[in-house]
Amino acid sequence: MVSSKYFFYNNPFHASDNNIERLKLFFCLWILMLLPTCVEPGLGEDDHWDGVVVTESDFLALQGFKQELVDPKGFLRSWNDSGYGACSGSWIGIKCAMGQVIVIQLPWKGFSGQISERIGQLQELRKLSLHDNQISGSIPSSLGLLPNLRGVQLFNNKLSGSIPPSLGYCPLLQSLDLSNNLLTGTIPDSIANSTRLYWLNLSFNSFSGPIPATLTHSVSLTFLDFHHNNLSGSIPNTWGGGSVKSGFFRLQSLILDHNLFTGNIPASLGSLSELKEISLSHNQFSGAIPNEIGTLSRLQILDFSSNALSGKLPSTLSNLSSLTLLNVGNNHLNNQIQEALGRLHYLSVLILSRNQFSGHIPASIGNISNLMQLDLSLNNLSGEIPISFDTQHSLNIFNISYNNLSGPVPTLLANKFNSTSFVGNIQLCGYSLSTPCPSPAPSFGVIASPPKLSQQHHRRILSTKDIILIAAGALLIVLITLCCILLICLIRKRATSKASNDQVSRRTGKGVPPVVGVGEVEEGSGEAGGKLVHFDGPLAFTADDLLCATAEIMGKSTYGTVYKATLEDGSQVAVKRFREKITKSEREFESEVSVLGKFRHPNLLALRAFYLGPKGEKLLVFDYMPKGSLASFLHVRGSETAIDWATRMRIAQGVARGMFYLHSQENIIHGHLTSNNILLDENTNAKIADFGLSRLMTTAANSNIIATAGAASGYRAPELLKLKKANNKSDIYSLGLILLELLTGKSPNESINDVELPQWVASVVKEEWTNEVFDVELMKDASTIGDELLNTLKLALHCVDPSPSARPDIQQVLQQLQEIRPVLSSQDKITSSSTIFA
Ligand SMILES: *[C@@H]1O[C@H](CO)[C@@H](O)[C@H](O)[C@H]1NC(C)=O
Ligand SMILES: *[C@@H]1O[C@H](CO)[C@@H](O)[C@H](O)[C@H]1NC(C)=O
Ligand SMILES: *[C@@H]1O[C@H](CO)[C@@H](O)[C@H](O)[C@H]1NC(C)=O
Ligand SMILES: *[C@@H]1O[C@H](CO)[C@@H](O)[C@H](O)[C@H]1NC(C)=O
Ligand SMILES: *[C@@H]1O[C@H](CO)[C@@H](O)[C@H](O)[C@H]1NC(C)=O
Ligand SMILES: *[C@@H]1O[C@H](CO)[C@@H](O)[C@H](O)[C@H]1NC(C)=O
Ligand SMILES: *[C@@H]1O[C@H](CO)[C@@H](O)[C@H](O)[C@H]1NC(C)=O
Ligand SMILES: *[C@@H]1O[C@H](CO)[C@@H](O)[C@H](O)[C@H]1NC(C)=O
Ligand SMILES: *[C@@H]1O[C@H](CO)[C@@H](O)[C@H](O)[C@H]1NC(C)=O
Ligand SMILES: *[C@@H]1O[C@H](CO)[C@@H](O)[C@H](O)[C@H]1NC(C)=O
Repeated sequence: MVSSKYFFYNNPFHASDNNIERLKLFFCLWILMLLPTCVEPGLGEDDHWDGVVVTESDFLALQGFKQELVDPKGFLRSWNDSGYGACSGSWIGIKCAMGQVIVIQLPWKGFSGQISERIGQLQELRKLSLHDNQISGSIPSSLGLLPNLRGVQLFNNKLSGSIPPSLGYCPLLQSLDLSNNLLTGTIPDSIANSTRLYWLNLSFNSFSGPIPATLTHSVSLTFLDFHHNNLSGSIPNTWGGGSVKSGFFRLQSLILDHNLFTGNIPASLGSLSELKEISLSHNQFSGAIPNEIGTLSRLQILDFSSNALSGKLPSTLSNLSSLTLLNVGNNHLNNQIQEALGRLHYLSVLILSRNQFSGHIPASIGNISNLMQLDLSLNNLSGEIPISFDTQHSLNIFNISYNNLSGPVPTLLANKFNSTSFVGNIQLCGYSLSTPCPSPAPSFGVIASPPKLSQQHHRRILSTKDIILIAAGALLIVLITLCCILLICLIRKRATSKASNDQVSRRTGKGVPPVVGVGEVEEGSGEAGGKLVHFDGPLAFTADDLLCATAEIMGKSTYGTVYKATLEDGSQVAVKRFREKITKSEREFESEVSVLGKFRHPNLLALRAFYLGPKGEKLLVFDYMPKGSLASFLHVRGSETAIDWATRMRIAQGVARGMFYLHSQENIIHGHLTSNNILLDENTNAKIADFGLSRLMTTAANSNIIATAGAASGYRAPELLKLKKANNKSDIYSLGLILLELLTGKSPNESINDVELPQWVASVVKEEWTNEVFDVELMKDASTIGDELLNTLKLALHCVDPSPSARPDIQQVLQQLQEIRPVLSSQDKITSSSTIFA
């Protein structure tokens, strides 16, 4: 039934058995195995290509499987014929290859009953997903008979008994999630037998006994979650192979809270260089926090609360520059809190409560700009609250109660938090009506102030000092301003003389060799004639400034040449110089370009000025984008610089917002959207360039450009071969290709085995190996973003539909992208709130 030539290209059952093929398979099922959402009909899942009749043995096994389950809602009624439908897609939850079952996927079906041991007969089974049912009984030990088993998702059921050690016989096991069941017994050593295991979640059960030391040697394990069990003993100090540096360890999450662990926190944890989250809270760990924790440079979450830890906070903790949460509350830690914690700029939660910390509250904590929650209650801190807290606006949970603090509470804190945040500090004042601070002395004339008032007196002297400082500062500012004015005058004078010098030197052939002047070719330009028109923006230069700027060629296109021009004052702009005879007449050009110059949107490259030279040369001046184009950002970089999904999605949404503005607000067709003319600013925000240029061209030039799209051909909608005129839907096609480019990391201009990118993606998806299309870099986070990848892929394929009418419009694209990943980063918020519509 599938006769396409792509069929064998990625057919995993094809004879070739090299490593690459295996690596592909490894990635293949990552998402499918991890995500409950893959259960919804995914991309291309309607197309079941495997029409082969199910094998007798698999048919009998499925029958046995059905018999032992209780199916109150009748989902398995579709398993009714004598096996013909099993592999043709009419049996719910089954996928086959060559007549053998490879996937059983039946979550949220209300099943009870048990999982039959006959499951072990399904020799090709890769994935067993029955999570979120009411299934009881034990985990079949026959799972160990399945050499291809990769994923087992049985979480949120009522399974009891223990984990069958035979699971260690599945050499390809990648993901095992048995969380939230009623499982007991110890965790078998063999569980770490698979060298592919990267996801192990046994949380919310009643497992007891120790952590198998074998797990601490695993080089594949990435997520380990054992929280809420009854595990005990100490944690082996052999993480990362003990002291031996024996490989690359991938562990990112180590979650062991709410167990009965004892002993010290092992120092070898410091060798887990990828660790992002560690939670050991609610156990009985004792001893000091090892200094080695400070080497975990990627750590974002550190929770050691509610143990019996003692000693001081290691000074190395202030090296954890990515940390957002630090909770060591409810331990026996003592000594001072180090000032250096203020270096943790990303910290948003800091909990040190219920310890024996003494000394002062470090002023630097008041300087952490992201801090939202600070709990220092129930310690032995003394001294005043640092005034740096008077600028601490981000806090919304604050507690310093039950310490030995004194003096006035900074106004900001006193206004924001009620007295339960401050009580239990006998000498603290000013945080409620019943704790007024001693009133300040009425005048400067107080000579013999009582001891209690010494505090206030001190403060008043300080404020006198402040006044002097402010006066001095004001004077300084006046002086500096004067200096600046003088300086600017001087520079202006020198600049004009230098500019004329430059022009002279170029004419005499003594210019700067590696660069050329934008206006160089045309003699006599500059003050001699020509017209420069500015649109709104921060740049102020004259025609002469522009023509005398040093310029490097950045690229050439069908429209002309683009230069990076550096003006005399050091500012940089991008200048587009049109090829001769392709633009409209001067008058038409001017009126069209004036329209384009009014467009202002955070995701459009702003046109700042245009210049019409006396001999008909035409220049457009744009903001210069230091990060270059999306194409080079994606395809020209070292293998060590990964681009994460969040960044790619932000770019995709930016492009969609820009296109939305063009299509719906300005009624403009881009006509030429490629990753080469999506530029990136210093914060990697997408800026669409080259929009509306067709309005400046003659009709002949335009159809010529469409026909000879050259390097951009990969982005050209198929109908343009005949139509010759771009429209909204052909823009959407190009946008779809950019989405595919972001997802796959492949350029539409390089065909894959003679197949174009959209066809390649569609063919892979059709064979249900969807995950193979994604950029390998993105698969690292497949567990969390898999859903978003799939939905974005679905949208992208919708956009590149061969039939223009089937493609969505830009509003739908934007809306769907925002639904797929609604969280805006703070950067996005800033740009979208500063949107300027002309
Ligand atoms: C089997 O079930 C499907 C779906 O429930 C139904 O369409 C079909 O007619 C049934 N076939 C038989 C032989 O009962
Ligand atoms: C671990 O796997 C190997 C084969 O990969 C097998 O020989 C061995 O018995 C397994 N160990 C356990 C404890 O299951
Ligand atoms: C493990 O499973 C539990 C319960 O199903 C869930 O809350 C937790 O987030 C999972 N752990 C990880 C690391 O995803
Ligand atoms: C741990 O074991 C104790 C008895 O030893 C039991 O009361 C408790 O419920 C168990 N906790 C969990 C989470 O299984
Ligand atoms: C970590 O912190 C310690 C003590 O504060 C310091 O000596 C060391 O240089 C730091 N290491 C790095 C890599 O910053
Ligand atoms: C806190 O920030 C202010 C202003 O940025 C700075 O003057 C002060 O030195 C900082 N204090 C500490 C302790 O880092
Ligand atoms: C609290 O700190 C003071 C010194 O500031 C010390 O004398 C006292 O013993 C400490 N109290 C406790 C309970 O640690
Ligand atoms: C409170 O701090 C003062 C010094 O500021 C110290 O003399 C006193 O002992 C402390 N009180 C307690 C109960 O720790
Ligand atoms: C004080 O604030 C806390 C939370 O900030 C709130 O839960 C509590 O009800 C407040 N108490 C009073 C007496 O207002
Ligand atoms: C502050 O901590 C104390 C002691 O744990 C507690 O009683 C109080 O409710 C807390 N206040 C707030 C606002 O959380």
